[in-house]
Amino acid sequence: MTEILKLPNPTWFVGCGNMGGAMLDGWRVGGLDLAPVTVIRPSGKVIEGATVVTSFDDAGKAPRIAVLAFKPQQLAEIAPELARHIDRGTVIVSLLAGVEIATLRGYFPAAEGIVRATTNLAVAVRRGVTGLYGEAGDWRFRDQIGDLFTALGFAMWMADEDKLAALGSVAGAGPAYVARFIAALAKAGVERGLSEEIAATVALETVLGTAWMAATTGESMDSLAKRVASPKGTTQAGLDVLDHDRVLDQLVAVTVDAAAKRGAELAQEARSASVA
Ligand SMILES: NC(=O)c1ccc[n+]([C@@H]2O[C@H](COP(=O)([O-])OP(=O)(O)OC[C@H]3O[C@@H](n4cnc5c(N)ncnc54)[C@H](OP(=O)(O)O)[C@@H]3O)[C@@H](O)[C@H]2O)c1
Repeated sequence: MTEILKLPNPTWFVGCGNMGGAMLDGWRVGGLDLAPVTVIRPSGKVIEGATVVTSFDDAGKAPRIAVLAFKPQQLAEIAPELARHIDRGTVIVSLLAGVEIATLRGYFPAAEGIVRATTNLAVAVRRGVTGLYGEAGDWRFRDQIGDLFTALGFAMWMADEDKLAALGSVAGAGPAYVARFIAALAKAGVERGLSEEIAATVALETVLGTAWMAATTGESMDSLAKRVASPKGTTQAGLDVLDHDRVLDQLVAVTVDAAAKRGAELAQEARSASVA
């Protein structure tokens, strides 16, 4: 018999804004019981199905899993207090972009294990992309954590933190880049006379249809583009602009590089703050 997927009890979310909220939305939509979840957030803003408190002192017994879902810049401020409320049976799951396991271990010496998860906002609709990297050693919940992220879309364990960063540089910020591309396609439609509403729908459905077609058939992007473009035809004229001097590839590469550079800066800031 298949076991029903459950959240360890208690599971804490320390912070629950865009990313934490998206994860809880995805699990709720997937039918997971959020009763084991306690969210600690200063605003006390209510979250359907979970308990929300504004301070660690009100959060109850030590968590089995503590999900770090605040901004990386707040680690030095929040970690010392959280560390007082966890015990040797707590596994830390960090969503903090760029903050390495070694830095987290420095803040949480008592934790049973530490996992980094690089995920994205599409977890809210269970189409997220998540990379996981766990500290070496023997700690509980490894399989359960993998299953919990798989319930939110595509999830895989990465070989090392460099690979995790590589996945994050594409998937973490990816929805923002794709959103910009869809908006640009829509703007082009408006410039050619479509209403904003129709252009937005047409651009969105075009991207959705293309992604869906590729996902269901496994066809490569190159082959798909070739099937749309007949030689010397209209699409080819457009592709010639995007392909000239690899202009689109270069633009995306420098975009992803800029985000990766910022990730490295955040990791360095977190390392420096932890030894300060
Ligand atoms: N957004 C993304 O697409 C994305 C993608 C990949 C990774 N991430 C990672 O996810 C993490 C969260 O990002 P986000 O976009 O969700 O940020 P966010 O929307 O700004 O949410 C931050 C959360 O931190 C809480 N918070 C602030 N001070 C706190 C304190 N002293 N104690 C406990 N909680 C506190 C806030 O509480 P209130 O709600 O009460 O104000 C809020 O819930 C970041 O580390 C980021 O690197 C985000």
